[in-house]
Amino acid sequence: VNVQLLLTPHTLDHVGLEGKTVVVIDVLRSSTTICASLLAGARSVIPVTEPGEAGELRVKLGADASVLAGERKGVKIENFQFGNSPTEFTPETVAGKNVILCTTNGTRVFGLTAGAASVFCGALVNVTEVAEAVAGLQQDVVVVCSGREGGFSIEDTLCGGLLIDRLAVKHRQSVILNDAAALARLLYRERKDSLQEAIAQGEHGLYLESIGLAGDVELCSRVDSIPVVPVLKDGRLVKIDGQ
Ligand code: MLT
Repeated sequence: VNVQLLLTPHTLDHVGLEGKTVVVIDVLRSSTTICASLLAGARSVIPVTEPGEAGELRVKLGADASVLAGERKGVKIENFQFGNSPTEFTPETVAGKNVILCTTNGTRVFGLTAGAASVFCGALVNVTEVAEAVAGLQQDVVVVCSGREGGFSIEDTLCGGLLIDRLAVKHRQSVILNDAAALARLLYRERKDSLQEAIAQGEHGLYLESIGLAGDVELCSRVDSIPVVPVLKDGRLVKIDGQ
């Protein structure tokens, strides 16, 4: 299968997605938060781009059925119930609810995936499960790293590299990689024994540490610690069938 990795979402609208599997990655922190919410029993996570859109959607869905979560500059959005720390999403806070999630880089990417055959949410915490779901579909793959403020981010690239490594090694897929995918795999292999350090020392890892969120960085770096596969269905992320 062809595996095309995008280091940032910039060129996503030039990529034909028909018949392909897309994996959207935002390790710090929205992909991890989405996994944590579904593990905690949220009915769905609805990714949105702007806070106003989130508020309108909550009115439409009903305040009892949904919660507002998200960040700007890593900090909870005013009047939202939750920020974007995976630890905020527990059975007590979100079981049975729709989590309307609005983050700076991660959640907007889902809105750019129209036409894809399948769209998954990938993070380090669920990478092996996502690789299994992707391998099962036998379709060409587009891995989209959400990056940071329009630029490249080391944690999303490492996660993309690990996903590709799992596809090639564990699932014995013969993968044809674009240059960015090859780069991501090389980076992962270089840092596979020190992933946590590489992420903690990255720009976004250091930023989150500076605002008191080093614990989130550590949690988001734990490979396979939240084994759920979020899949996009009608604009909502839900657990893949059978989970
Ligand atoms: C994002 O989508 O930009 C991130 O999840 C930011 C963060 O909350 O760390």
